Amino acid sequence: MNKAARGSLLGIEHLDAKEILSLLALARRMNPLKPRPLLRDKRVLLLFYEASTRTRSSFEIAAKSMGAMTTLVLSSGSSIEKGESLLDTGYTLQAVGADVMVIRHPHAGAPLLMATHLDVPVINAGDGMHEHPTQALLDAYTILRHKKTLKGLQMAIIGDIYHSRVARSAIHLLSKFGTRITLCGPPEFLPEVATSLAPGLHITRTVEEAVRGADAIMVLRVQKERLAGTKLRVQDYISRYQMTTARLKMAKRDAILMHPGPIIRGLELTWEVADCPQSVIVEEVHNGVPVRMAILAKALGKTS
Ligand code: NCD
Repeated sequence: MNKAARGSLLGIEHLDAKEILSLLALARRMNPLKPRPLLRDKRVLLLFYEASTRTRSSFEIAAKSMGAMTTLVLSSGSSIEKGESLLDTGYTLQAVGADVMVIRHPHAGAPLLMATHLDVPVINAGDGMHEHPTQALLDAYTILRHKKTLKGLQMAIIGDIYHSRVARSAIHLLSKFGTRITLCGPPEFLPEVATSLAPGLHITRTVEEAVRGADAIMVLRVQKERLAGTKLRVQDYISRYQMTTARLKMAKRDAILMHPGPIIRGLELTWEVADCPQSVIVEEVHNGVPVRMAILAKALGKTS
């Protein structure tokens, strides 16, 4: 790996527990309401080839609350539409003076390609079905605000796990800390290699089994187009896998209900569950700002 990868955050898989804990500790010291100009005069380029609300806005607010300048480049309305390659776009944004590049791309490996060729740190804001490391960090941060430790915690992940970079990064992170993870979803939505992914990983057939005794439940978005590729009709999905109040009651009394968003009320979870006191969905979004502040500060070597 060349020096450009220094400061980059491409995935959780290759981070060790110490690096993760130090990022989380740094995030705890960040307060977006009390801005500190740690990144004054730094230019943060946000390069989004895919739709985003939470990730994009929280990166932008994180950067700005540390005094950085931000420039947003979307695939529509940029030269990407004219057929410019990913790397040529990267070289262009480096030439205009980017100090760090945040990238979301539909293809796995796009951030790695950029980090290998560019001289600036690259942060993966979600690449295809591969990883979404900043989401996993904000999820761990959120869990640790409610639970003392990740070790021995029982976590149920429900929905379309196979296509989810959120699930993949969460599994990488949590399994480094000894969390017991149970996956549940239609067979088409489960990774075939799940059991070889991590030792503490289990698959259950029913949501009830997955949720029973859980400390935390992560529900994932289900895309109707993908559901159409399974044997299930929307109504079958709802009756078998939807997170309902009755199912949530099977978890520990103090279990937290997570979802990376965007949520589809009435499909993967009920309206009631989305807004119940155990739901930390809004808090996850809120925590995305200090966590991304820490990630940007670390990428630019401005941690104190
Ligand atoms: C997720 C993503 O884009 O991977 N959203 C997010 O960043 N919070 C999840 C999804 O779109 O289903």
